[in-house]
Amino acid sequence: MPAIANPLALSVAGLNFANPLLNASGAFNAAFFNQLYPLKENMGGIVTKTVTQNPQAGNPQPRTVELAGIGMLNSIGLQNPGLAYTLAQEIPDLKATGLPVILSISAHSSLEFAQMTELALNHPNGKLIEAIELNLSCPNVAKGGIHFGSANDSVKEALLAVTSICAKPVFAKLTPNVSDIVSIGGAAIEGGAAGLTAINTVLGVAIDIRRKKPIMPRVSAGYSGPGIKPIALHAIWQLHKHFPQTPIIGVGGISSAEDVLEFIMAGASLVQVGTLCFRHPMIFQEITETLSRFCADEQVATISALTGCAHG
Ligand SMILES: Cc1cc2nc3c(=O)[nH]c(=O)nc-3n(C[C@H](O)[C@H](O)[C@H](O)COP(=O)(O)O)c2cc1C
Repeated sequence: MPAIANPLALSVAGLNFANPLLNASGAFNAAFFNQLYPLKENMGGIVTKTVTQNPQAGNPQPRTVELAGIGMLNSIGLQNPGLAYTLAQEIPDLKATGLPVILSISAHSSLEFAQMTELALNHPNGKLIEAIELNLSCPNVAKGGIHFGSANDSVKEALLAVTSICAKPVFAKLTPNVSDIVSIGGAAIEGGAAGLTAINTVLGVAIDIRRKKPIMPRVSAGYSGPGIKPIALHAIWQLHKHFPQTPIIGVGGISSAEDVLEFIMAGASLVQVGTLCFRHPMIFQEITETLSRFCADEQVATISALTGCAHG
């Protein structure tokens, strides 16, 4: 009997994925969950927690606030063990999942982005990384992050600094906290981005009414989860409309296969799931099964045929 082609398999920016599901950076411990159940059967790829060149302790507590039914606020502040440790200790464990690994990095300048890229590519474990995602959009750090991602010039410069020395695909992760995400996306593409990841968290505030003060020490934090889904869909719709040839990794509020299909139909090629993993770390299996059933029911030969189909 001839093998039946997997309708969820797709190729994006020259990389092969068994399905369009990735985890969103920072919200899922892939190496840990891979020990409990094989992620390879249910995910298309893994994204690392964003790493900085040097270890970072992150922000003071409290760092998270649960927003019942709609998601959460976080202000982790890019706590991470630094690039050298991640390359030496974490990348091999992530690669052991058998999935393509995308390294997420953040820096304070284009020069530092280039230095980090060079370090990663020249490291013995650099060959285990399939792509790089530039986090141009973290709202929870005082320097770099969102400031970088809010201006066309700095976005293009950061992309150029990395893509000029990196033959692997580079994705630019965009912030929704700008007046024109399309123009920022355009700058990333001009800088050589192989694709755009949209969106990072939406700025938000929570107040402790007893203390009469903001809950988070840094006041503003990143809002994620189901409540931001329409905001993410809007961003993806606009980006796909203006850059139909550029792959988009859609992220923001996904909690079901139906959500994934909405993201794909709006223009995403791949998707990432973040906040929902805290409540339901096995979500990938559920989504993959439902997506497969949808493709069979709707006679979809390949899921990539659905990308942007809602644009008509
Ligand atoms: C606790 C937490 C930590 C996060 N850390 C990162 C990070 O290190 N790098 C990054 O690019 N995004 C980070 N994000 C943002 C997510 O990757 C994602 O863009 C955002 O949460 C929206 O997706 P979601 O609604 O599915 O969570 C973090 C989100 C959460 C909730």
